[in-house]
Amino acid sequence: MLVDLVEIDIVLRTVGGVLLFRSWHRAGARLREFVGPLVVGVGVEVGHAPGRTRAGRHETFGWHVGGYLGAMSNVTNSKTTVPSMNESTSVKVIAALQDRLVSLIDLQLTLKHVHWNVVGMNFIAIHEMLDPQVDAIRAQTDAVAERIATLGGEPRGTPGAVVEMRTWNDYDLNQAPSVQHLAKLDDVYCGVIADHRGAIAEVGELDPITEELLIGHTGDLELFQWFIRAHLKDAAGDVIHRNSDDHQS
Ligand SMILES: [Fe+2]
Repeated sequence: MLVDLVEIDIVLRTVGGVLLFRSWHRAGARLREFVGPLVVGVGVEVGHAPGRTRAGRHETFGWHVGGYLGAMSNVTNSKTTVPSMNESTSVKVIAALQDRLVSLIDLQLTLKHVHWNVVGMNFIAIHEMLDPQVDAIRAQTDAVAERIATLGGEPRGTPGAVVEMRTWNDYDLNQAPSVQHLAKLDDVYCGVIADHRGAIAEVGELDPITEELLIGHTGDLELFQWFIRAHLKDAAGDVIHRNSDDHQS
């Protein structure tokens, strides 16, 4: 019998005493080769499938009966963290890192925005200064996100997550003279660096590896802020156009 039904996977999950049945049906010649073994002798997988949850607070249990083994599994073990770190500690470190991830994504986007919108005196100097900063901060973003994953968490890096989780207002300058953007960027860096230093103090009690990661990043951020401020200093060495009450934090 020619059967176009090439995959049947039934998952029975117990969720609060309710059994959910799911099935998948796909047709196609490419997978027709599976029909033979499926009909002659259905492969059976019986196993435990932890449910996918953000905080790993609960699990569901499932039994898979599949035409081919494990193909439909989508298992995330959110309790997996590094050796010698308990879950409670990893949750705190992940929360601190997630906050810094949002900040770094926001910063790299803001720097590109300025790269496109700066005009006036020193245009090319500012324009070209910012791209290496964007590249460096993108690398920091990647390292922070991967540290979250290493600790068993799920890094959230979508635009919606950034908007949802950030605690500061959006950068509010579009096309503007270089001195205005530099003064604004000085404030942005003040906020990011202050929050990074706060995170360093927090995770320093919990995880020296994450602490070291953030210390390295903060050193680079402070260097980049110096590049910004160097354009703003007057003959007396003061940073001009500074509004100390307007820092992102
Ligand atoms: Fe560009």
